Formats: sequence, structure tokens, C-alpha cells
Amino acid sequence: MNRTLLWETGIAVLTVYATIEIPLVIVLDLPRTGYLLGSDIVLTVCFAADLVGRFRAAREEGGESTQRYLREWFLVDLIAAIPFGTLLAVPFESLRLLRLLRLAKLARVNTAARKLRRRFNAINPSLLRMATLAFWIVMTAHLVACGWLWIGGTGDQELGHAENYLQAIYWTTTTLTTIGYGDITPRTPGQTIYTIIVQIIGAGLYGFVIGTIATLIANIDVAKAQFQEKLERIQTFLRFRNIPPELQQRVHDYFDYLWASRRGHEERAILDELPDTLRTEIAYHINREILYKVPIFRGAGEQLLRDIISKLEPCVYLPGDIVVRKGETGREMFFISKGSVEVVSADMQTVYATLTEGQFFGEIAVLLSTERTATIRAIDYCDLYKLDQTTFSDVIEKYPAFEKSIRDMAEQRRRELGL
Ligand code: CMP
Repeated sequence: MNRTLLWETGIAVLTVYATIEIPLVIVLDLPRTGYLLGSDIVLTVCFAADLVGRFRAAREEGGESTQRYLREWFLVDLIAAIPFGTLLAVPFESLRLLRLLRLAKLARVNTAARKLRRRFNAINPSLLRMATLAFWIVMTAHLVACGWLWIGGTGDQELGHAENYLQAIYWTTTTLTTIGYGDITPRTPGQTIYTIIVQIIGAGLYGFVIGTIATLIANIDVAKAQFQEKLERIQTFLRFRNIPPELQQRVHDYFDYLWASRRGHEERAILDELPDTLRTEIAYHINREILYKVPIFRGAGEQLLRDIISKLEPCVYLPGDIVVRKGETGREMFFISKGSVEVVSADMQTVYATLTEGQFFGEIAVLLSTERTATIRAIDYCDLYKLDQTTFSDVIEKYPAFEKSIRDMAEQRRRELGL
């Protein structure tokens, strides 16, 4: 975690603390001495440092940043840094509500939370959003409970601070969740108005929270849900078309493998959404394994690899699948990332060779613009990468050394076939 993010997280934690402490101190009328005075000083120092730090960072960034900071956040940060609690303690006790201005800083908590979510992206985003929602629910309940205490609470003089707060939280949850047992009821006109407002807001909030949670739960594993839906659609189609059960089973196997090997993500479609530069970077990251596996790539320069990598198209074959058929016109060559294939004659009686991880095939037809010289059959589940003829031609034109290694291999294979 970098220093800025660490600092912003610290400030967010302090803000949350202030949001809990300040309203309680006000409504329970706690004296600002000892620990509470200490916490006020810590908050003041940290918020003031935050104000200076952010202002300086905006100035260093240059351009519009300073103006934007002054326009958007300066006032919030400034107000939060003023210690109204200590300044106003003695002379203007009636102005103690001014201390609540510090809570303006709460608006910044969301920004810090968003940055943290992005930083710890290994955690499911829906779960993180649910945690954020839970946080805001707790904060709202706390503030509403403090409001209830402010206008008198249960009015029971016997209760201590903790019990009073507990009763207020109880009243808040029963009202906000629209349960309303009615055991704690408003006693004054002020309390009645407050109750009506909380009830109306509560009904809306309740609906919003339930709706949001339902959406978040549905989104916890979007990939799985979408994959399942696709599979069901395909199965319905296969049944409707009376496809033989064995063939249906093969389709099933294919999707099972797709899920096991890449969680059903269609890499091509996702990459196509991205701009060129990002696409190349991400394709490089995903496909770099194949670059280490294929010997002819190992000696190749960085630029050649980058040129090829974003054009490689991943594809999957099941055991027994025919990848290329002798006599067909070939428009692409293949690199084997996982699995093995056999090179066989057209009648599949003669096996010329077995090719495994890191090897390639299909180069003869592409290089010489001829028909496929043999049939290629997958022995087990195969992860292959396809390179189309246009990219292939561009690449060999630019990189003669690459062309030579492929041409040499093609010649040798043709000789072995007696061509
Ligand atoms: P192509 O003719 O395009 O399609 C069939 C592929 O099988 C061919 O390219 C070669 O890549 C591969 N091939 C043909 N003969 C052999 C062999 N003897 N050993 C390995 N691979 C071969």
C-alpha cells in the first residue's frame, strides 16, 4: 500500500471515529476533558495536516488541480480541521452543534473506500460493496439514534449512558426496519415529528437496502451465472434440434473444460472492449506462458512477441476432435499451449508424428498457400493458439529470422511426408 493511500485510510478511520464520538458527546453532554480532550486534539492535528497535505499535493500536480481542490474539498477539509469542540466549550455551550461540522469529512470516506477496493481487487467487488453498504447502515442507525437521544430518548432518568444509547439504537432499528414494536413511543410533539420523519425515510431506505443486497448477491459470481445461463440456452437448443445424446455430451464436455480452464471467460470478447494499447498489454500478460513454451518464440525480440501476442486467438479442442483436415485450404497455423495432437493420414490409419506443448502445426499450408498436407487430431484436451494468415504474412515479412525457423521446419516436415 503506498503512503498516500495509507494516510487517506488513516484519515477515513479517524473520520469514522469522529462520526461515532462527536454526536454521542453532544447528546449525552459529556465533559470535554481527559480522553475526549485528547481525541479532539488528535483529530484537529490530523485533519489540519490532511488539509495542508492535500493542498500541497494539488499544487504539485499543477494545472487545474489547485482550483479543483479549492472548489471541491477545501471548505470541507477546513471546517473539519477547526476544533469547535474545544474552542466553544466554555463560552458558547449552546453552539455545541457546530462540532458536528467535522462530520463533513465523511464525504471523503467513500473516496478512500473506493481506492481501497481498487487496491485489494482480489476480493470479490460485490462482497466489498456489501461491506460498504453495511458500514453506511450502521453509521445511519448511529446518527438516527443520537438524534433520538437529542430530543429526549426514552426519558427514563434511571438509565446510564450505555443503556440509554442501547435503547436508542433499539428504537432506531425497529423504526428503520419498519418493524415498530411500539414499546418505545414518542412522548413529545418533537419526538412525534422525528418519529414520522424516521419512519418515512426508513421505509424508503429499507426498500433500497433490500434491493441493493439482492442485486449484489446476484452479482457475486456474475461469470458463473452468465456461463450457466449460456449453457442452459445451448442445452435447450440441442434438445429442440434432437441432437444425438453423444453429441450433446461432447458439447457438455467442451463447456466443462472451458469452465475449468478459464472460468468461461471469452477472452477475445473482453479484449475487444479495450483500446489497442491495453489490449496488447493484457494479451501479453495472459499469453506470455505460450511465449516461454514455444522454442521459436524464445529467441525472438520483444517487438515481434508484442506484434504476435495480441493477434493470437486461444481455442479449445476435445479428445478426438479434428483440428485440420488433409486437403483443406489452410488459413491459420496453431501453437500448442496444453495437450497433444497427432499428425495422421487422411484415412487416419497412419500416424506420422505426435506434437505436444510448445510445438506448432499448420504452418505449411499458410506459408506455401497450399492445401493441408496431413490431418491433425487432438489426443486429449488441447489449448491451442491460432495465428491467422494475414498476421502471419505481416510478421514473417518484418522478421526474416522467424520466417526462416518456420520455413526450415516446414521443409523438414514436407520431406518426411515425401513431398
Ligand atoms: P499443414 O499442411 O498446414 O497442415 C497439416 C500440418 O501437419 C502441417 O501443416 C504440419 O504443420 C504438420 N505436419 C505435417 N507432417 C508432419 C510431420 N512429419 N511431423 C510433424 N508435423 C507434421
